[in-house]
Amino acid sequence: LILILDFGSQYSHLIARRVRDASVFCELVAHDISAEKIKTLNPKGLILSGGPASVYENDAPHLSPGVLDLDIPVLGICYGLQEITQTLGGSVVAHEKKEYGYAQLTVSTLGKEALFSDLEDDFSVWMSHGDKIHQLPEGFVDCGTTSNTEHAAVANIERNIYGLQFHPEVTHTKFGTQILSNFVHEICHCVGDWSMKNFIEEATEEIRKMVGDELVIGAVSGGVDSTVAAVLMKKAIGDQFQAVFVNNGVLRKDEDTEVQIRMRDKCGVHLTYVDASEEFLAMLAGVTEPETKRKIIGNTFIEIFEREAKASGAKFLLQGTLYPDVIESVSHKGPSATIKTHHNVGGLPEKMNLKLVEPLRLLFKDEVRTLGLILGIEEDSIYRHPFPGPGLSIRILGEITNERLSVLKEADSIFIHELREAGLYRQIGQAFAVLLPCKAVGVMGDFRTYEEVIALRAVETTDYMTAHWFNLPYDLLQRVSTRIVNEIRGVNRVTYDITSKPPGTIEWE
Ligand code: XMP
Repeated sequence: LILILDFGSQYSHLIARRVRDASVFCELVAHDISAEKIKTLNPKGLILSGGPASVYENDAPHLSPGVLDLDIPVLGICYGLQEITQTLGGSVVAHEKKEYGYAQLTVSTLGKEALFSDLEDDFSVWMSHGDKIHQLPEGFVDCGTTSNTEHAAVANIERNIYGLQFHPEVTHTKFGTQILSNFVHEICHCVGDWSMKNFIEEATEEIRKMVGDELVIGAVSGGVDSTVAAVLMKKAIGDQFQAVFVNNGVLRKDEDTEVQIRMRDKCGVHLTYVDASEEFLAMLAGVTEPETKRKIIGNTFIEIFEREAKASGAKFLLQGTLYPDVIESVSHKGPSATIKTHHNVGGLPEKMNLKLVEPLRLLFKDEVRTLGLILGIEEDSIYRHPFPGPGLSIRILGEITNERLSVLKEADSIFIHELREAGLYRQIGQAFAVLLPCKAVGVMGDFRTYEEVIALRAVETTDYMTAHWFNLPYDLLQRVSTRIVNEIRGVNRVTYDITSKPPGTIEWE
């Protein structure tokens, strides 16, 4: 185990990714974790992350006393290095010239023996800092220099404490992954045997211990996280895990049967299917305001799920929480403004008095996908685009009626089918059709038409926080447009949304 002490850098989670890529397990913890607590966790090394503060400021975040005296190898990155410097009696000052971007690192003979073994003598690194080390603490020497600073890489080899002013975790630093790998393997002596297979063994063992012979209930939506979590539970405790799949009436075409076949027949999960589509659609009738739609869907879902949970007698609730959600609560990021209320099952566990099981809480999204593939879940399901909880209700702008719902289902299905045929589905972060709240005039044959308008949306994104509209080939757009207008009664116009996020959001509501 490697612990990453998080000083709030936007790159902290990347450090964790790189360490895990070196097959070493690591966890991100708050920067002020106590020395006692670290001892009980017994890590083989500590990495201090970067951060936005300046160590000499009054309210700057600091290490807890004694952390550098635990006789555990330490690597400080950027702010982490400056914190080490100040704690051990050196000094840090504001740089006359802030340094962002590439710099050329020249490695010293000493550096080659430590962090930089088997690398080139000179390579480019990525800097992002406003402060610099003025004086090194006693016992420290330079291992690498750049034209801007003689302390770009430093070490106290006797005490096994290292520091880098640049960021090895970003891909712009050549050999960054090898530097971190050298630290965890050569200096911390981690064996490097962490893999998804170990993870499955450990996670299933932990689940069994935690739940004993009690029942666990969990909602599945057909999305990646809930599917993988459910299949992992099935592997750990068999039919002691009971999945509930609620059809809320605003799922995509054939999704209700597809999810059932996948979960029950292909993955062998004990699944209760609740067709509540009529209940949901009755509640949504006449509603046009997006947040009201979200609230109705969220609350109705909670009511139904609560009913199922009570009837089952379960004592535990499965949640597909991922590591980024956990990190958010550790980090120093301020609360951001609520643009849309995304979490439609919030408050569920407290209300029902169930204990939480969160077997994916240590994994990143791509690790969840790898886990899913190893668990034998089909690829199409693993690489599925995310689908919002309120489903098609927030893609039917204006009123939701049965007719409008079936128009949108067909249009969406044609669009997605054509994207898959063109081999583009996986390159796209999310793609879907939207039914607009207006009608347009057209001409079909010799007749004037006045019908619905479909907008197509496809975006490239990794984190869904920002996104670029996807540059779709014109011939594909043409095919999709022709098919939608010809095959779906009641639609006479198709448009393509060329707005990025920001300023647009991915969904239209
Ligand atoms: P926006 O539209 O905010 O979407 O750019 C970002 C991502 O979140 C999804 N989304 C939702 N997911 N409940 C959900 O579970 C919601 O109410 C909701 N609204 C948006 C959206 O599909 C995209 O992936």
